[in-house]
Amino acid sequence: MRGRFGLGAALAVSACALVVAACGGSSSSSSSSGGGGGSSSSSGGVTVTGAKVIDPSSMNSPPKGTIHYCQGKDTTGAGKAVVSEFNQKYAAQGYKVVLTEFPASADQQRAQFIQRQQAKSNDCDVFSSDVIWTAEFASQKWLYDMTPYVNQSRTKYIPAPLETVHYAGKYWGVPETSDAAFLFYRTDKGTAPPATWQAVYQQAAKQGGIVYQGAPYEGLTCDFLELGFAAGGQVLDSSGKKSAFNSPANVKALQLMVDGIKNGSAPKAVTTYMEPQTDQAWTSGKYGYMRNWTYAYAADQTGGSKVKGKYAVAPLPTFEGAGKAGILGGHNSVISVYTKNPGLALKYADFTASPEWQKISLEKYSSAAILNATYDDAGVKKAIPYAAELKQALGQAKARPVSPVYPQISQAIYKNVNDALAGRASPADAIKKASDQINSALSTF
Ligand code: GLC
Repeated sequence: MRGRFGLGAALAVSACALVVAACGGSSSSSSSSGGGGGSSSSSGGVTVTGAKVIDPSSMNSPPKGTIHYCQGKDTTGAGKAVVSEFNQKYAAQGYKVVLTEFPASADQQRAQFIQRQQAKSNDCDVFSSDVIWTAEFASQKWLYDMTPYVNQSRTKYIPAPLETVHYAGKYWGVPETSDAAFLFYRTDKGTAPPATWQAVYQQAAKQGGIVYQGAPYEGLTCDFLELGFAAGGQVLDSSGKKSAFNSPANVKALQLMVDGIKNGSAPKAVTTYMEPQTDQAWTSGKYGYMRNWTYAYAADQTGGSKVKGKYAVAPLPTFEGAGKAGILGGHNSVISVYTKNPGLALKYADFTASPEWQKISLEKYSSAAILNATYDDAGVKKAIPYAAELKQALGQAKARPVSPVYPQISQAIYKNVNDALAGRASPADAIKKASDQINSALSTF
């Protein structure tokens, strides 16, 4: 393992530098407890009024029954496991959770949830909401205000994942898993992980290639911004109201990725890869490097993997002549305002954030725990040799812009970046077009 976190720390700007409105302010509202009461909250000029507020004590003895938990495709089995642990624990008391799986693509998960919320359906009592959707869903008044619950034990959470559920001065869910990406490299090929992205691409050309998520969806926004931010690029300016995306740094980062495909450092097929296809490619044994989230460390040892026991992970490298950057990922348990059993929904959300489940989730599924204490567990340290680096990566990772129109901002990035990767646009044109589209998205609210 390398330890090159020093530079990253210096470069990591706080989420506040990138956000539209989510930092700094505190709520001016008082929240009523009891489920039906309304709350109003504001921060940096953004206000969410009239939200239903969770009653923390409602989880102690909620009405018996079944609730549905919706999440993305359960490719690792972690979703089935958490539901089954909960059901075993509470079956005798008459509580049951059923898992509903949405597609693997983050964008499609969002679309599925939105469809249900627009129909005021209770299909998803609890939703595993990507960290980037808090602002949008809270603004739409689709989520319970969970502030009274979160405030009961705020310090047990790692600050970065907790911040992702914070918007307009309120907490809109419970952190469930955090996320950070790593450079996966083959230990059996006998080379140390390169120190720069440029060197990774050079090495990859000689070692079968690098695979990553290059399909036009949220994952590509993350993969691109890791290089773009490291090169010194930004998405929004400091006001959060204007695009700062069209910069030489972002063009340089995209050029490196485009050249990588042109010269065979990355297969052209990456332009169609999301996480599952990336894992498939990596576990075929053909490739020397992979960019993927922490879950792949455990997942890619399983099944018919040809790289079992043959890889390790390293922190993401530096961009030559500039810095390094990671993107903060992860998911929060949010409770739909259309649930008929908010108490049971909270009981389940509370379980997913419990020390008991967080340990299993990190130890067995290499998912980034959201509790400080989990990383000190001896079993965890043994199973996940990079546990300390993972925790450090979460603290240093940059947030994606916080905005109710974030999905449109991201779409502008991933569509145009994908066009460049596929050879349909030059890096300079793609970055400029994305920037113009980001400005259009920002002008709509
Ligand atoms: C991972 C991350 C999430 C991100 C997604 C993109 O699931 O946790 O935050 O948006 O990947 O594919």
